[in-house]
Parts: sequence; C-alpha cells; structure tokens
Amino acid sequence: MPCNCCEIENNTFTEESANADLKHYRKRGPANQTKLILEAVRSLGLKDAALLDIGGGIGTIHHELLNDVAREATHVDASSAYLKVATGEAKRIGHEARVKFIHADFTDVADELPQADVVTLDRVVCCYPNFRELLKDASSKSRKAIAFTYPRETWYVRIGLKAINFFQRLRNDPFRVFLHPVAEMEALLNQQGLRRVSVRRLFVWEMSLYQR
Ligand SMILES: C[S@@+](CC[C@H](N)C(=O)[O-])C[C@H]1O[C@@H](n2cnc3c(N)ncnc32)[C@H](O)[C@@H]1O
Repeated sequence: MPCNCCEIENNTFTEESANADLKHYRKRGPANQTKLILEAVRSLGLKDAALLDIGGGIGTIHHELLNDVAREATHVDASSAYLKVATGEAKRIGHEARVKFIHADFTDVADELPQADVVTLDRVVCCYPNFRELLKDASSKSRKAIAFTYPRETWYVRIGLKAINFFQRLRNDPFRVFLHPVAEMEALLNQQGLRRVSVRRLFVWEMSLYQR
C-alpha cells in the first residue's frame, strides 16, 4: 500500500540495516529499550492478547510476546525491507500464521485496522514528525494499554539528535529524528483516556506504559 513516509523510511531502514539488526537480535536478544517494553507488557498479566506493533522493525516485540502474552499480532511498518526480514524470522520460529504484516504509514491505515489489547511503538515516535496524529491513532486502537519508547529530553540527547539531523541535511537525506515533548505526548494520551502507570529510563531512551 502506498504511503506518505514509506519512501523516506525505505531509504533509511534498508535491507542491510534490517539484516544487521536481525543478526544482533539472534545473538544478543532484544535491545535494552525493547526489554523495557516487553517487561511492561508482561507486567499486565495478559494471556491470549491481540498485539498491534507499529513500526515493529524486525519484529522483535511480536517474536517475543507471541511466546507467552499474545495470541496474534499485527505489525505495521513503513519499511518494506524490515517487514521482509520480520516475516522471514516469524516463519523461521513458527509464528508466521499468527502475524499480519502490513506495509504502510500507520496513520494512513489506522481506520481500517481492528482494535488490539496492547499497542507498542518502540523507537517510532522519534522517526515521525506528527506525533499527535501517530499517538492519537495508536491510542484509538488500544483496548487496554500502550507502551512506547522515545528519546529522553536531556541536553545530551538534544545535542545528539541535532547532530544527526545536521548530517542528514548535509547528505540531502530527508529523514529526520524528532525529540517530541514528553509532557505533550502525555497530555494527548490522557485526553484519549489513558493514564501513565510506569516510566523507566535508560541513558538515551525512556519507556512509558499507559493503561485505560
Ligand atoms: C528506529 S526503527 C525501530 C524499529 C523497531 N521498533 C526497533 O526498535 O528496533 C523505526 C521503525 O518505525 C517505522 N516507522 C516509522 N514511522 C512509521 C509510521 N508512521 N508507520 C509505520 N511505520 C513507521 C520505520 O519504518 C522503522 O521500521
């Protein structure tokens, strides 16, 4: 399905980087900030849950949660390369029939998707300029909870993201990273009937779990 951001994401999240991420995942398991999402979702004590993973990359979250918490998963991603690698891994571990893969900008297809018990976005809001639309659509799909990671509002993260965007501009690459205001994301999710029940921090990343 064509989408607004797919071309930019396809150029950034390539088959090469997807294969490197998969190699890292097979060797070392989920990345540290992904572990925070997995722990948060597992803390809800759900069984047979429906999961919606937005911008799931190589699919780490559903590869893991389909082992205990989730019955089925939908993985929407703007990068066709990452979806291809995620599909291959799901097939290898025997989860393929339980995952629906959709190539799209999530905000373009949200209206057509069914609700899920849990919605996850791991390092996705920082790739997308319009966090309000993304989080509003994501929360509208969540029956019980939403867990997501985003860069922390610290001085060193601000400098790091500015440096990344500076080099992106120099290379004439339209992909940008965004440090969205955490208080505004929280206010928006509160308006959608979700309350933050836990927050955990790493050096760069913060993870928040919201529940209805
Ligand atoms: C930094 S990667 C993170 C991948 C994975 N969640 C992880 O943490 O390893 C961002 C992912 O989000 C996807 N993405 C960004 N904006 C999106 C959108 N609006 N709809 C769907 N996918 C999106 C990109 O294609 C990419 O796969």
